[in-house]
Amino acid sequence: MKKILVTGGAGYIGSHTVVELVEAGYEPIIIDNFSNTEERSLQGIADILGREITCHRVDCTDGAALRSVFEKETGIAGVIHFAAYKAVGESVAEPLKYYHNNVGSLVALLQVMEEFKVNKLVFSSSCTVYGIPDKLPVTEQTPVQKANSPYGNTKKICEEILTDLATSGSDMHTIALRYFNPIGAHPSAKIGELPLGVPNNLVPFITQTAAGIRKELTIFGNDYDTPDGTCIRDYVHVVDLAKAHVVAIDRLLSDKAEHIEFFNVGTGTGNTVLEAVQAFEQATGEKLNYKIGPRRPGDVPKIYADVTKATEELGFKTTSTLEEAMKSAWDWQMHLQKSTVQH
Ligand SMILES: NC(=O)c1ccc[n+]([C@@H]2O[C@H](COP(=O)([O-])OP(=O)(O)OC[C@H]3O[C@@H](n4cnc5c(N)ncnc54)[C@H](O)[C@@H]3O)[C@@H](O)[C@H]2O)c1
Repeated sequence: MKKILVTGGAGYIGSHTVVELVEAGYEPIIIDNFSNTEERSLQGIADILGREITCHRVDCTDGAALRSVFEKETGIAGVIHFAAYKAVGESVAEPLKYYHNNVGSLVALLQVMEEFKVNKLVFSSSCTVYGIPDKLPVTEQTPVQKANSPYGNTKKICEEILTDLATSGSDMHTIALRYFNPIGAHPSAKIGELPLGVPNNLVPFITQTAAGIRKELTIFGNDYDTPDGTCIRDYVHVVDLAKAHVVAIDRLLSDKAEHIEFFNVGTGTGNTVLEAVQAFEQATGEKLNYKIGPRRPGDVPKIYADVTKATEELGFKTTSTLEEAMKSAWDWQMHLQKSTVQH
């Protein structure tokens, strides 16, 4: 079985990808420093797979520690690099923390990969690189714009670093996946998003509100130029997104990939925030307490993906509906409540 190193593999998207890698016949090896997750995500992975996955508790900005993982884990065929901080608001308040972790970890990782002649990388990028796009849906040719947060800028800078490396004559082959809005959880409800503190993302806020942990959800603005006035996003089920990483690794290992390639990973459909709330209510039968508040500075009014390239070249396709994603997020929330009560 080919070994795939998964940095940030105990996190939200990483844990789902680890499961899909095993199901596709790969042997994932996790690196995580647990700065934004908990040990129980490893237990969730083990419960789904019926066995434990090796995890190295290492900080990816620490080149020496990374090197020792590559020494121990001989024969790494490729790397998926999820490890990063992702809270937009926090990045505005603490930009250096974000540049150090997100850019620093990529550079340290690439240096060690070069040393050990591991030259296949899947990088977690984001649709945030498109800023406020002029035309919808966005394709991979849609111009990358100046980032509107330090977090977004780290993704843009990381893509530039990878592009510079690709054109330098290096043997590195990279697929950067530009995620739209990942939501939902594994159908087993054993892994899912584990927001520490007040959630930054819509769906954990919805599920926590329905569960009574938060008083109400505030929808930021209903006067945008969209059918119901709320922002439009492309919500992609995290299991579908996880599978995109498997097909990206397949492509890299079959030597079909260029030195650098970019792919949008979304559903190709935009939904308003209100539609997302309605999908949650329909899928779960729960009534959500929400109010409309003022617009939030920095929010992109509408964005959704053109996924033709990922469909044609990676064979990527989404299979889950918005309702299914919402139901799985709710089942995960219920699982979290149960396991917290038991502790
Ligand atoms: N979730 C989203 O909405 C979204 C959207 C677009 C892109 N992304 C990107 O996808 C990746 C994964 O996101 P996620 O939602 O799974 O986040 P997450 O926080 O759940 O997972 C990231 C994991 O990386 C770990 N980590 C962070 N810094 C580390 C370091 N220096 N060394 C080792 N481990 C470290 C964290 O402990 C965590 O387990 C990130 O790069 C993120 O920027 C996420």
